[in-house]
Amino acid sequence: MRKEYVLIAAILLCLAVFAAGGAAGNFPKAALLNGDRGRGAALFTNICSRCHGPMGTDHVLNPGSADGTVPPLGPIDRALFSRDPDTFATRIDPFLQHGSAPEGPNPSLRMLPFGDSGTLSQAQIADAEAYVMGLNGVDRSPIRSLLLAAVSYVILAAALWIAICAALLTQRGKLKR
Ligand code: HEC
Repeated sequence: MRKEYVLIAAILLCLAVFAAGGAAGNFPKAALLNGDRGRGAALFTNICSRCHGPMGTDHVLNPGSADGTVPPLGPIDRALFSRDPDTFATRIDPFLQHGSAPEGPNPSLRMLPFGDSGTLSQAQIADAEAYVMGLNGVDRSPIRSLLLAAVSYVILAAALWIAICAALLTQRGKLKR
């Protein structure tokens, strides 16, 4: 038996499983999904506007917080803003996933952990993020995330294919002897 074939097949199989795990682990996450701004607008009106104001632009009062108001989302804090939609989404995503308490002795309003609590699905969070990005003149372009998904798919398929070929070659090697 060709030990090296078995070893190569095992390594490739591990790589394939690793790639599959990576793909499965990353893709349902909101920041990598292409949210829909229109659906996000409806969500915003129903859920977010009560704290952020109807357009996300109003300085809604937040007694007990250091700022005294809920931060506006349009224009959003420059530290969170990016022209690159993937970067922008990645920066605001933790707020929507895990929530955040503003600085100050006893803020009456806190950002809610919509992801952790399961109040919103990852797809809904992606929609809300697309809306917030839209408020700041950034389009949630589908191209980059789709490209990422396509590249992972190709790598995964190639790894699986090589693993299967290596396994078959190993079998043939066995039969010849
Ligand atoms: C119960 C009130 C409340 C609701 C509802 C709420 N937020 Fe917030 N949100 C806040 C507060 C307060 C902060 C500031 C948190 C901080 O300073 O750490 C915040 C922060 C944020 C931030 C980060 C902005 C920054 O400058 O720090 C984003 C983005 C955001 N919210 C989006 C949303 C979206 C989208 C929704 C609806 C799905 C939503 N929020 C619903 C209260 C709320």
